[in-house]
Amino acid sequence: MPRLLFLCTLLLTLNASLVSAEVKVADFDSIELFTLTNSNGMVVKATNYGAIITTIEVPDRNGKIADITLGYDDVSGYMNAVDKPYFGAVVGRFGNRIAKGKFTLEGTEYTLALNNGVNTLHGGNIGFDKVVWYAEMVGDKGVKFSYLAKDMEEGYPGNLSVSVKYTLTDDNEIVIDYHATTDKATPVNLTQHAYFNLKGEGEGTILDHELVINALRYTPVDATLIPTGELAPVDGTAFDFREAKKIGRDIDQTDEQLKFGGGYDHNWVLNRKKEDGELDLAARVVEPTSGRVLEVLSTEPGVQFYCGNFLKGNLKGKSGKPYDYRGGFVLETQHFPDSPNQPNFPNTILQPGETYDSKTVWKFSTDK
Ligand code: BGC
Repeated sequence: MPRLLFLCTLLLTLNASLVSAEVKVADFDSIELFTLTNSNGMVVKATNYGAIITTIEVPDRNGKIADITLGYDDVSGYMNAVDKPYFGAVVGRFGNRIAKGKFTLEGTEYTLALNNGVNTLHGGNIGFDKVVWYAEMVGDKGVKFSYLAKDMEEGYPGNLSVSVKYTLTDDNEIVIDYHATTDKATPVNLTQHAYFNLKGEGEGTILDHELVINALRYTPVDATLIPTGELAPVDGTAFDFREAKKIGRDIDQTDEQLKFGGGYDHNWVLNRKKEDGELDLAARVVEPTSGRVLEVLSTEPGVQFYCGNFLKGNLKGKSGKPYDYRGGFVLETQHFPDSPNQPNFPNTILQPGETYDSKTVWKFSTDK
């Protein structure tokens, strides 16, 4: 375990016109905090501990800035988080669940840690959210984090060389580029686990946010949140977000799927119209009081929409405000949960010689 962390500040000056980097160096080696800014007053901070995005400051329709992502103000908060919310982190090597922590690949059965009841969640006990990544600025606009996950780390085969790059544009977009290669066949499913509350972090629930998910189908789950394998139509169900709908409108319906998730905690099958590798709309969220809008575009086939059902108000964030039950939502663009055990789902096995490339864009704007 790392020693007690005290962050001291070191200012790194870049010859950037619109993007600058402030690096906070922990006394334990190389944990740093990078700050990206743009010409519209947006500020994004990210640390190489877990490749966590700690801060996203965005203007509302009147230009008022708020930090709209949940998190802590120092690294020890993330390390010691109660109930493991995975605030702002990159999850991997395999995001979301693998049933009973087992999968078989090329005739060999692999066994993973069970860290979520009977299943494995978000890469295991020490997933990518809990490791220190190598950090470098990329040009004057982005920061790139790289990590080498060793063969059999957390039970997965293959040395996996992985990177994630965050770029803040002057169009108020955060562009997230993932890249990975391996020396043995291995499952890979990377995603970003930032929680949003477009009113501002700690400003109550997200139930009044209006959500569109560009999906005709979703993947129903069993009681342990493992997909049954079915791609069920959203039509006529609480899972229909084809037209903008308040997140809270149907969330308390009597519905076995909502009961299993404690609300929404499911993967939607995106209605992709673009070629593989091209960005397509995954979701759009509008917060009516502030007018803030978030559009999520991705090359991925699915999105896990999780609406903070496991937040209980007992966890206080960076500004000291409690994070209420359903006080943040997550839109995890990804391949479908448990894909290594589900032959009918899109492939998540990366082979040596192939590259894993995935892109997601969070585009912020206002409605008026
Ligand atoms: C999962 C939830 C889990 C949350 C935080 C989400 O991706 O689907 O079930 O509680 O992450 O761990």
